[in-house]
Amino acid sequence: MSQIVSPLIDRFGRAITYLRVSVTDRCDFRCTYCMAEDMTFLSRKDLLTLEEIDRLTSAFIARGVRKIRLTGGEPLVRRNIMWLVEAVSRHLGNDLDELTLTTNGSQLARYADALAGAGIVRINVSLDTLDAAKFRVLTRWGDFDQVMRGIDAADRAGLKIKINTVALRDCNEDEIADLLRWCHGRGFDLTLIETMPMGEIEADRTDQYLPLSLVRARLEQRFTLADIPYRSGGPARYAQVAETGGRLGFITPMTHNFCESCNRVRVTCTGTLYMCLGQDDAADLREPLRASVSDDLLHATIDAAIARKPKGHDFVIDRRAAPAVSRHMSVTGG
Ligand code: GTP
Ligand code: 5AD
Ligand code: SF4
Repeated sequence: MSQIVSPLIDRFGRAITYLRVSVTDRCDFRCTYCMAEDMTFLSRKDLLTLEEIDRLTSAFIARGVRKIRLTGGEPLVRRNIMWLVEAVSRHLGNDLDELTLTTNGSQLARYADALAGAGIVRINVSLDTLDAAKFRVLTRWGDFDQVMRGIDAADRAGLKIKINTVALRDCNEDEIADLLRWCHGRGFDLTLIETMPMGEIEADRTDQYLPLSLVRARLEQRFTLADIPYRSGGPARYAQVAETGGRLGFITPMTHNFCESCNRVRVTCTGTLYMCLGQDDAADLREPLRASVSDDLLHATIDAAIARKPKGHDFVIDRRAAPAVSRHMSVTGG
């Protein structure tokens, strides 16, 4: 097998060092801003095996990827997920700086210790409200207490936790200050996210969308926010909150485009590579992966795809417009 070591650099000079791997499109929640209640999922036979995902991630690591995030759907509902975590973790300390995951927290009570044991240092947990009744409405199927037990277990296992909250008009906008105090009180970072128009949902996104510029202005009436250069590797830009001593991140795809510094691509559980979260263009990696035991064709396919990585997304939220991309966030895990 020939060894290809050239790094992945796109035509805008952006080096691809961060791979997001969606290990399943399934989720045990049905968040209203993410998917419809009667969402249809892929059939199990279309999925890459965990061994194939391991081979794929290793190929990206060989090309200079230093950070891997497992996503879903909900990554911890994929059967035998710890096998993959342990397999990928063998690269840590060598050619991989970070292996992490983004989870809804529902399975953390079960997995926290094993994740920490496999060398995972920090995780991102999606949590949009601290109100159990609202949580049930928002996630449709989620159990707030189960998620809290999961977060407690992760904390006890020594995992660093960042909470992700999608800012939603008329839903959690009056709770952001409470979430901030709760997170910082427990030593967690908090990152706020603007909702993105991905896939058809039952609600109208125009009604849900809340610009973070407005959220920040409101928070600044009560808190002192100082921008800091801290980065976590993703698109968030952080501020230090003087009153709580914690960090608050802002992910603003709608009001402030961060695409010029994009360092990431994502691969789905069927081996489809998406070069941009907000564009439809994709490359099939399953076929070249299965075509040969050599990775040569796989690397050539990855090269051709990275050469097409677009400059940025075309997200707009408009009552008359269809979603910018037809797939749901749960296909690529964000
Ligand atoms: P850190 O490693 O902690 O920086 O996390 P991250 O922001 O890279 O990952 P996470 O899974 O926590 O994602 C948080 C949100 O950022 C999700 O809603 C993602 O969809 C969004 N996000 C991540 N990368 C991109 C991107 O390239 N473009 C857009 N528009 N959103 C992104
Ligand atoms: N817009 C913004 N964020 C979304 N997420 C899911 N769907 C959307 C959307 N349409 C968030 C989840 C999770 C992260 C991976 O993406 O809440 O925190
Ligand atoms: Fe599941 Fe995450 Fe989508 Fe909620 S946002 S339904 S937890 S994939």
